[in-house]
Amino acid sequence: MPKLNPSALYYGGDYNPEQWSRHVWQEDIRLMKQAKVNLVSLGIFSWTNIEVAEGVYQFDWLDDIINLLHENDIKVDLATATASPPAWLTKAHPEMLPIDANGVVRSHGGRQNYCTSSPIYRERAAALVAKLAERYGNHPAVEMWHVNNEFGCHNPLCFCDTTAAAWQGWLQNKYGNLEALNEAWATNFWSQRYHNWNEIIPPRRTPDGTFPNPSMVLDFHRFSSDELLDIYKLERDTIRKYDSVHPITTNFMSMRGSIFVDYWKWAKEVDFVSTDIYLIAADPNRDIEFAYACDLTRGFADGQPWLLMEHSTSAVNWQEHNLPKEQGEMLANSIGSVARGSEGAMYFQWRQSKGGSEKFHSAMVPHAGENTRVYRQVTELGDQLDQLRDLVSTSTEQAKIAIIHDYESLWAMRQYNVPTTQLDYTEISQDWYRALYNMGVRVDFVSAKADRATFKKYDLVLAPTQYLMTDELEANLIDYVKNGGSLVASYFTGISNETDLIRLGGYGGKLVKDFIGVRVEEFAPLPKGSVTTLSNGYQAKLWAEISQANGAEVLATFGEGVAAGSVAIARRNYEKPVWYVASQLTDESLKEFFGSVTKELGIEAEGGNGIEVLRRGKFRFEIGHKPGSHSHQVSIG
Ligand code: GAL
Repeated sequence: MPKLNPSALYYGGDYNPEQWSRHVWQEDIRLMKQAKVNLVSLGIFSWTNIEVAEGVYQFDWLDDIINLLHENDIKVDLATATASPPAWLTKAHPEMLPIDANGVVRSHGGRQNYCTSSPIYRERAAALVAKLAERYGNHPAVEMWHVNNEFGCHNPLCFCDTTAAAWQGWLQNKYGNLEALNEAWATNFWSQRYHNWNEIIPPRRTPDGTFPNPSMVLDFHRFSSDELLDIYKLERDTIRKYDSVHPITTNFMSMRGSIFVDYWKWAKEVDFVSTDIYLIAADPNRDIEFAYACDLTRGFADGQPWLLMEHSTSAVNWQEHNLPKEQGEMLANSIGSVARGSEGAMYFQWRQSKGGSEKFHSAMVPHAGENTRVYRQVTELGDQLDQLRDLVSTSTEQAKIAIIHDYESLWAMRQYNVPTTQLDYTEISQDWYRALYNMGVRVDFVSAKADRATFKKYDLVLAPTQYLMTDELEANLIDYVKNGGSLVASYFTGISNETDLIRLGGYGGKLVKDFIGVRVEEFAPLPKGSVTTLSNGYQAKLWAEISQANGAEVLATFGEGVAAGSVAIARRNYEKPVWYVASQLTDESLKEFFGSVTKELGIEAEGGNGIEVLRRGKFRFEIGHKPGSHSHQVSIG
């Protein structure tokens, strides 16, 4: 499998020369060289400029720009151009447009306007990719391939009849026979038993007050992620027929809002992991969000270097209130990503568009030109990344703590028919991460499907709301603790099996009920916005439950309401201790709790309270965040 092999940290961004005259291209080259840009992502949305009618390709402009970049030592991350099908294609084949759960066709005019199961989309995309790979696979400017763009950003789920047929095939493949499916989905409920595969439709909108079968919805998410992955594989394998040398990637979205693609599974299919990270400008904790996304991406990459493929130099254009980045923030983000394992810092986009939906989105060269705050920072960053070139291909230090991250639990929990719709898997995981970040404790992320050897690398594993518990994960966690590991599991862990059927006999399954020793009988979620005080003085929100100790030592109980007296925090000692936390502790209490846990386990902290201290290769990074300003320092040692 070809690997990323940079000679310096990558620096550049999405480059859309088709939006500009050739005179501007010359100016682009001058400014890129001035800023030490060494890589651009080319052609991401260029389908209509390359294939002007079915089978009619126009490569002259692309040849010219690739050659021009090559003459100037700027490498190309060549896109497959399949992210935005042209109007001639959707006009000829309106059946390829996606249809939402309400039966509404999502029209041409934005981007990603295709049903992910559409045979015609796949056929035309593969034909385009073949042409590109054949023509440019051996071009010396090409450094890597960029398949499609942010798969599933706008069209993660489609509910049309074409999708229904693909879905039925996926289910047949998974379950083999209908009896197994009926059992796995508990279809004797509400007369949902299926007698023929073709009766099973996607989880379209149902009569008000009723919701589709949750096991079906969970499988539909798995299926939809797999459908997108099939397109990725189709494009990748098409490239490989012509080019066996260059690494192939697609830009993930490791951010909070992106929840439709199981990147743990996808990461196995890319030659290297790359991601985009956009922040919510109004979020005062966005530095933590950024660090979380970097660490999660490093997890997808199995600790190996990865690439920040897009972030923004300043404001985006798709939030309600699009604030510019604060003083020093752009550099702090970019350098921070490198400290957390990125092989460079890339942006959307090189030159700010003069028209189109993203004309107000920041870029490396703003509308106002080179004499600007942003472009000055761009050149400053180019110099700094150049000085860090020795970092290339080095790994970051492994953390002592691993947080389990699991899209399947996220999908299963994010439904209507749950004890409270206030539970947000990502938010809970981010709460825990934030407490540790503020303490200056680094963490890694691992998949719920990680093997025993992976868990064993860590002193402490955290399982925040690991709702969906496979027998394998349960056995792996118990084995990990029996072999000297330490674990913190939260409420709503071990509730259901792989197809979202409840594990009976007391919630929490073997892990929580028997191994940690807390037997949960009923859930008692707390009203929105309320905070409750536990018997040890900690404060908690969102969740309470009615339970008894079943072998665990009780450290705190709920103090009020129907759960009063039930277990709020418990521990049990094996070679090392394990803890169960039955509510969502507030930020302060989480810090106190993790403070005592890390102290007991001897896990050290460095930095914290707005200072990130990170090490990679021979460099030490100190990145600071204060309201209104951000700073960074890099030193040796
Ligand atoms: C990303 C996308 C880019 C651009 C950017 C704006 O989601 O990949 O093409 O739209 O957002 O923030």
